[in-house]
Amino acid sequence: MPRCVARSLGFVLALCLALPALVPAAPPSGTAYLVSPATEKKIDALLARMTLEEKVGQLNQYSNPLDLTGPAAAAGNQQAAYDQIRTGMVGSMLNVNGAAATRKAQELALSGSRLKIPMIFGYDVIHGYKTIFPIPLAEAASFDPAAAELSARVAATEAAAAGQHWTFAPMVDVSRDARWGRIMEGSGEDVYLGSVMAAARVRGFQGRDLAAVDTIAACVKHYAGYGFGEAGRDYNTADMSEHTLRNVVLPPFKAAADAGAATFMNSFNEIGGIPSTGNAHLQRDILKGEWAFQGFVVSDWGSIGEMIPHGFSADLKQAAQQALAAGSDMDMESRAYVGHLATLVKEKKVDVRLVDDAVRRILRVKFALGLFDDPFRYSDPAREKAATLTPANLAAARDVARKSIVLLKNEGGLLPIDKASVKKIAVIGPLADDKDSPIGNWRGQGVAGSAVSLLEGVKAAAGSQAQVVHAEGAKLIVGPRNFMAPPVYNTTDRSGFAAAVEAARGADVVLLALGEDAFQSGEGRSQADIGLKGLQGELFDAVVTANPRVVLVLSSGRPLTIEKQAAAVPAVLATWQLGSEAGNAIADVLFGASNPSGRLPVAFPRAVGQLPFTYAHKNTGRPGPEPGVTWSRYTDLPNDPLYPFGYGLSYTTFSYSEPRLSTAELAAGGEVKVTTTVTNTGARPGVEVAQLYVRDMVGSVTRPVKELKGFQKVELAPGQSREVSFTLTAADLAFYTARGKWEAEPGAFKVFVGGNSRDTREAGFSLK
Ligand code: NOJ
Repeated sequence: MPRCVARSLGFVLALCLALPALVPAAPPSGTAYLVSPATEKKIDALLARMTLEEKVGQLNQYSNPLDLTGPAAAAGNQQAAYDQIRTGMVGSMLNVNGAAATRKAQELALSGSRLKIPMIFGYDVIHGYKTIFPIPLAEAASFDPAAAELSARVAATEAAAAGQHWTFAPMVDVSRDARWGRIMEGSGEDVYLGSVMAAARVRGFQGRDLAAVDTIAACVKHYAGYGFGEAGRDYNTADMSEHTLRNVVLPPFKAAADAGAATFMNSFNEIGGIPSTGNAHLQRDILKGEWAFQGFVVSDWGSIGEMIPHGFSADLKQAAQQALAAGSDMDMESRAYVGHLATLVKEKKVDVRLVDDAVRRILRVKFALGLFDDPFRYSDPAREKAATLTPANLAAARDVARKSIVLLKNEGGLLPIDKASVKKIAVIGPLADDKDSPIGNWRGQGVAGSAVSLLEGVKAAAGSQAQVVHAEGAKLIVGPRNFMAPPVYNTTDRSGFAAAVEAARGADVVLLALGEDAFQSGEGRSQADIGLKGLQGELFDAVVTANPRVVLVLSSGRPLTIEKQAAAVPAVLATWQLGSEAGNAIADVLFGASNPSGRLPVAFPRAVGQLPFTYAHKNTGRPGPEPGVTWSRYTDLPNDPLYPFGYGLSYTTFSYSEPRLSTAELAAGGEVKVTTTVTNTGARPGVEVAQLYVRDMVGSVTRPVKELKGFQKVELAPGQSREVSFTLTAADLAFYTARGKWEAEPGAFKVFVGGNSRDTREAGFSLK
């Protein structure tokens, strides 16, 4: 990776001010830190004392029966689970929440078991524990790894104090398909941005030392290919070449492993006909072999058992055999290992050395967390109280939220709202005073309805200077809203329309809050249509007809198809789901206290039919444009998206000079410096995200037309210019070639600089 993910000094200072107690962590290098002669000796001694059954117990993970994040495998059999915990047959639990509960569960595990091996508690701490930060997709829009690291750091501090040892994050699945509900959990469409964010989050969760009481182990997921499910449908089949696997899907996983992520989670999908959970190529050859990963792999929820419906295993016993052989170390809720591994070993169908290796990997992480020194060190009610939802944590959440907002359109200077001339603001729409949707899905212990709503944020920012009126217009969801229930949309009740139109009519500016409910994205929430659901389209038309001075404040867990709406209003703001401080952060941007600097981590398509989509596509043999139809195009739509990757406006404008290269010929061991002068050509200070893209013109396998290779956030005063330089070496040009190697190939390259993936200036060099 080039050494170019830099931030301005002012920016770093702002972060430090927001959260003085948190020091950025120095990343461990890879997972070698998990292995020390002293620990391995202790593990050897333990293994020597363990019965086969006790070993199998370490590989067994149960969910707390009362707090499920998936269909419980044996819901009716909790007494048995209890007994197993007491006798050392459960190495790990998930969904046990709070310092008191984790302490109690740990006491149970230690009370009756012979060897007193502590359990490791895992939980989905995805974008905050109690203080909720923007959903990961939004955070990726900050193009700010320090912000993602800070958010993970705060989440770890809160979660660790509540007794959690381990988060099932970061989710690093590259996704180019907004139909997939889980796109909200990752960093979007790009390999490079995804890799940078993955590493930052691992650093944030794990800090400098896993044994510290404010750090938790990361779990990189879902390994692998889950984001490439056919037709954007969750849990669906993924099929791809080794080339796409290595060049697109795996780099963020590798970056997370290099950053020291202690664990991996495999994925529900099959890939190339083999379920990931039973995939030895992924888990043994690549992860534990090529990458020398020393931590452990946990299955996804029930994914060992799901190899049966996949048609890969005849029964749970065979599934257990296949999963362990393939390198899945811990069984999350399939109850396959606890049910069958000991028998399989006795029948000589499974080599006990595979069991030992899996146990060793799990024990390594338990040792690294310090659990053998004090199994209760994390479960601290006093610290839980003191460390949670602190003003500093909330300030950090607001800061990261501001940075995650993307201004998509701003014509006629409607934004920022000028308090001197705007006397009446109408805040309209189903999401206008929604205090829950900003918390998003995968909300940890975030309290339902606890976010600052847009209306609240706008009222606080407007103070006494402007009148703020509110109308819901129409409900978005009717029916239950929770992790398991599918969304049911309001398609009939228009009774609030008249009040909304009335509110719009008299306003100087209308903030129209539309988009998605929190439970429209996330697991199991794929959509075949990603437009505005329910009556939102109709409400939009009614409001815009009454008053065209509308800012569309769009909140969602994925890109939406809003071409028609975006064309009809002067301003559009993508605010995703921004967490606890959402309304305040949006108001900061609306009123200009913060100049928007977010950029799209994934394109907004014009229509769902363009999906999957990426700027980093291949050129094809018929790239066009040409007269007629016989080139790679749609006949009913342009090929390009509505807003491309990397796109986002500011209240000021920026220009770029032609890129200047330090050399036209890059020698194998050398470097080429790409320099562009970025100028703030507008009237306000602002932050630009200068982006560097590369194209390898000819490859042993074809290469994308553009690939992000670096970005820098640059803060510029009006009229100010700054030289921004990126350094590229051959390593940055490397890819998985036709020779099956990660290497750079000599030949011609183009470089592009600009403020998004579409509007760039270019130059060229060759690699010798
Ligand atoms: C299933 C999800 O796919 C995974 O991401 C999550 O960590 C587990 N359930 C545990 O909740």
